[in-house]
Amino acid sequence: MTTGIDTGRPTSGDVLDLIADDHRRFELLLAQLRLGTADRDTVRRAFADVLIAHGEAEEELVYPVLRRKAEDIDGETVEHGEEEHAEGNEALLKVLELKGTDTQAFTDAVEELSNLIAHHIAEEELTIIEPARTEVSAKVRFDLGAKWAARRNELIDQGCGSVENVRRIVEQARAEGLLDDDDEDEGDDEE
Ligand SMILES: [Fe+2]
Ligand SMILES: [Fe+2]
Repeated sequence: MTTGIDTGRPTSGDVLDLIADDHRRFELLLAQLRLGTADRDTVRRAFADVLIAHGEAEEELVYPVLRRKAEDIDGETVEHGEEEHAEGNEALLKVLELKGTDTQAFTDAVEELSNLIAHHIAEEELTIIEPARTEVSAKVRFDLGAKWAARRNELIDQGCGSVENVRRIVEQARAEGLLDDDDEDEGDDEE
């Protein structure tokens, strides 16, 4: 909002389309972070707002309804989505906490964030968005679209992507066991 980067302001529509639109926005912002085609500090803060608002509103409003309404979307699928949100948010926190944006550490953190988000987007579109398109009525999808968009925008207005708030969300996810397998090692995995 205050960053000068367009974080979008959807208000109505099919929730599945609105979510997919945001995924394209993620890809665009991540590309800007990787390529340095816009100020990286500005981009990372805008990305944090959209990613956190998007995922929190999904978990609060969309996942529970789709799980109830769509046979192909079960508790396991939803829980897996929440684990991936937690992993993405943890990688985001790393990107936000780094002081400089022209360091190897920043490059590594952006690569990890990019990979996790690309994976989550693909999986969510294949296992949640696509089945919901045929299994959930248009009325429910449009009702959810308005609710999800309002919540998403409200969270952005509250500055949900601040380092402090992202840290709080990651700590909460860890307490809930959503980050069980992770270790805090820096750099590449070594076996
Ligand atoms: Fe999503
Ligand atoms: Fe998601």
